Amino acid sequence: MATRVSPMPLVAANWKMNPNDAGDALDLVRGVLSVARGHADRVEVAIFPPFPWLLGVSEVIAESGVKLGAQDCFWELSGAYTGEVSPAMLKGWCEWVITGHSERRIYLGETDEMVAKKTASALGSELSVIMCVGELADHYDAGTSDQVVEAQVRAGLANCSADDSARLVIAYEPVWAIGTGKSADAEHAYKTMRLIRRVVGELIGAGAARKVRILYGGSVNSGNVESYVELPLCDGVLVGSASLDAAEFAHIVKVTAEVYGHR
Ligand code: PGA
Repeated sequence: MATRVSPMPLVAANWKMNPNDAGDALDLVRGVLSVARGHADRVEVAIFPPFPWLLGVSEVIAESGVKLGAQDCFWELSGAYTGEVSPAMLKGWCEWVITGHSERRIYLGETDEMVAKKTASALGSELSVIMCVGELADHYDAGTSDQVVEAQVRAGLANCSADDSARLVIAYEPVWAIGTGKSADAEHAYKTMRLIRRVVGELIGAGAARKVRILYGGSVNSGNVESYVELPLCDGVLVGSASLDAAEFAHIVKVTAEVYGHR
């Protein structure tokens, strides 16, 4: 079996609909900047603020090596789609975009088909994409997590090819672990990430799949991050609540850098 050369880990900060104040957003990003910059050779850090704060945050992180991303995009590149933001609009000053976050699936009714269209459109616009997948508590309790996650991966990547692999990241986020403080145990996370890598390999070929990074997300904090990033198949973390505390997020970046420095 070919040895897997680990790509650089990714630590992503999903601020969701926070903070409400532009000044607080800039303070928050300034707070993580020096730590992120100090580990830029070992960890890729990407910040995902709400749309209105993208410009201000982009000015603060300019030349720092810290990357910027949007939390969502539409699949069309322009046109009569009130309220939507296209990948073409993001391209140029954002490198990243998140697709398929469970909060959009739940609160806005996003389907696997919509996620697939958004993912393909963003990749086609040369953005890098974190596509989120994860089972609900009911699935977890019923023991059907694997089937649900596999179906989401297959549907979400329906329009992707091997050429997209280096810009594609899949975040495994069990929905019952998001914002609940109830993070998944490392073994469950590992088994699901292994399943995701196998499925991605079937879809785009094993060689290309090795370039796709797989993250864990769901109540990651400075106390539990090590248990995920030390998993051999885990290429980083997607952090929600803990990314709103600059010291906490900086600690997550530091722990990730230390763990990967020893791999
Ligand atoms: P959480 O959110 O860290 O607050 O659980 C993670 C996410 O939704 O990406």
